[in-house]
Parts: sequence; C-alpha cells; structure tokens
Amino acid sequence: EKAGFDHFMLKEIHEQPKAYRDTMLGRISDDGRSVALPELKITAEQLKEINRVHIVACGTALHAGLVGKNVIENLVRIPVETDVASEYRYRSPIITPDTLVIVVSQSGETADTLAALREAQRCGARVLAITNVVGSSVAREADDVIITLAGPEIAVASTKAYSSQLIAFFLFGLYWAQTIGTKDEAEVAHVLAAMQSLPEQVEKILAQAEVLKEVVESISHHSSLFFIGRGIDYAVAMEGSLKLKEISYIHSEAYAAGELKHGTLALIEEGTPVIALLTQEDLYEKMLSNIKETKARGADVLGIINEGHEAEVAKSVDRQFAIPRTLPLLTPALSVVPLQLLSYYASLALGHDVDKPRNLAKSVTVE
Ligand code: F6R
Repeated sequence: EKAGFDHFMLKEIHEQPKAYRDTMLGRISDDGRSVALPELKITAEQLKEINRVHIVACGTALHAGLVGKNVIENLVRIPVETDVASEYRYRSPIITPDTLVIVVSQSGETADTLAALREAQRCGARVLAITNVVGSSVAREADDVIITLAGPEIAVASTKAYSSQLIAFFLFGLYWAQTIGTKDEAEVAHVLAAMQSLPEQVEKILAQAEVLKEVVESISHHSSLFFIGRGIDYAVAMEGSLKLKEISYIHSEAYAAGELKHGTLALIEEGTPVIALLTQEDLYEKMLSNIKETKARGADVLGIINEGHEAEVAKSVDRQFAIPRTLPLLTPALSVVPLQLLSYYASLALGHDVDKPRNLAKSVTVE
C-alpha cells in the first residue's frame, strides 16, 4: 500500500505532481485562458459584493491560508485576514454579509475549523471550504466547496494536502480575478500556463531528493534552528518549521527575515542552522543582507533559491538547493517540497516514527 516507498509521508510527497494535475483537471479551459469552477454556487454578482475575506484554519492548513492571503490580495485586491481557527470566535471578528470566510481543512473534521465555519454563517457570512474530503462535515456545511484532489493522506504530517490547497487558492484567486476583472484574460492565461508546469517542476525537485539527504546532517544534530523568509517565503518558512518540529522533534522557529534583528538574532550562535528562502526576486537583496546578519553571528545557512542564482548566492550561504523558475506568486508550490523532504530525512536520521509522530493525531476533533 506504500507503493514501494518506506513511509506514507515519502509516498505522499511523491504524489504531489499527480495531486496538482488532478486538482487542476477540468478547472482550466481547454484554451488555457480561464478558470472554470462550476461547483461554486456563489454567483458573479455575489462575488462582486464581497469586500473582505477571512481565511480560517489550523496548523498546516492555516499555513496554506497564509499563502492564500497573498494570492487573493495580489490577484483580487481585496483585504484578507488569516486567523487561527481556535482563536477566531473569541476575538469577535468583524463578519458582515459582504465577508467571504474561507475555511481550509484537509480532513474537513477539525473541530475548531468547523466551529469557526458555524460562527461565520451565524453572523451572515458566506463560507467557502477548501477540503480534501467529499462528504466531510466542513464540506457538508459550507455554502461553497472546492475539493482538492490530493487523494487520501495517511501520514500525520500533511504534505500533498497542503500543496493541493495552494493549487486551490491559485485557481480560486484567478477565477475571482477574471470574474471581477482585476486581471485580464492574458494575465490569467499567463498564470495558468505557469501553473500547468508545476507538476513537472516538482518532479524535477524530487529527482534531486538525495542532495537534501546529505544536507540533513547539518541540521539533525542541532537542538534549535531557524527558517527565514520575506513575503510569501515567510508563509512557506512557517510550514517548513512546523513540518520539522512535528516529525523530527527538533525545535525551530520561522521568522520574517527582517524581524530577526529585533531580538531573535540573539539566539544565533556559531553553527546555528538557518534555512533561508530566497525565491522572491524583488526581495532578493534584502534577504541577502538578512542572511549576512545571521552569518556574522556564525549561522550555518542553507538557501532555498531560484535556479540560475547558484553562483551569485554561493558566497552568501553555506549550502543551497535550487528550485525551478516559476512566477513569484506560485513559488510556494515548489519551495515547500525541499522543506518536506528535509523534515522527512531528519526524522529518519533520528530514528523517529515518521508517519505517526508522538502526541499527534491525523484529525483533531476536540477543541
Ligand atoms: C500538520 C498537520 C496539522 C493539520 C491540522 C489541520 O502536518 O497535519 O497541522 O494541518 O490539524 O487539519 P485539517 O486540515 O484536517 O483541518
């Protein structure tokens, strides 16, 4: 049932190209110029009335939501807030009938996410669910549902469900943008073309998995490390950090790279591993100077970079891993893959139960 892989997690990491293809299948027009989401009941008129978005989820799904915030704000230009589901109800969020609440849940059964959905509906908002399980509680109760077609996810650590949620956000963001006209047909087609290359690009990353296996030595003997990034890379840094914690039990923190010097830099000492995401070209120089700040304190830096920057970055980092080129907004669908593999290899090297980490359940049905 593990199809020749040692663990479900590794199998599921390798299923991501298929999960991307399946999630896109039938949702992109044959000419590649528009998105079709016939499952949505929300009309174009209703979509035009929405002036605020709340994305609510837990854990890894929340991290997909943080990417989703970037995607929607960029494509649709509507303000988006992202909330931890267990906090949402208790902060009296401002929910109006013009608010679209998006809940994200692989299982569709997470108690806090379901409670947030119900609270949003009680306040008169429409709820869109992005979930992997047809017929789940979240799928049944939401007003609209976009199913991710990642297939069953068995490993406790979420991989393909997360990345398929990203694909769902790209599709929905583009659909919304084309519906209200914030992006014209050519711009939508441009993003869709890049999206259709993602499965192949993930395959390219997977083919280099061995490189990461070697890098893992530099991480697994440390008791604490940092993931840093800016913008959408910061959202991915959070997911990388959670993945590492949950299966390798190594403490790590994700930091917005520019925020490090406001206190946390004090924790960087000789040999502290820092994993730096550098996929956003417009933030490149800023990232390099943040990396320099950590190197000056002795950090051992692994850069996750764009292909083509290898030579240039070589003088600023100790190790690097390059991902294929895509549009800045789509990079999380690629950059998360080396981070997943790194966690997997770290867990393996430390002899932990990769698929069933201690203290954790696949679906959290208590608040
Ligand atoms: C981490 C992980 C958890 C879940 C979270 C939400 O790998 O699996 O953080 O993402 O419990 O679960 P769902 O998406 O089922 O609502």
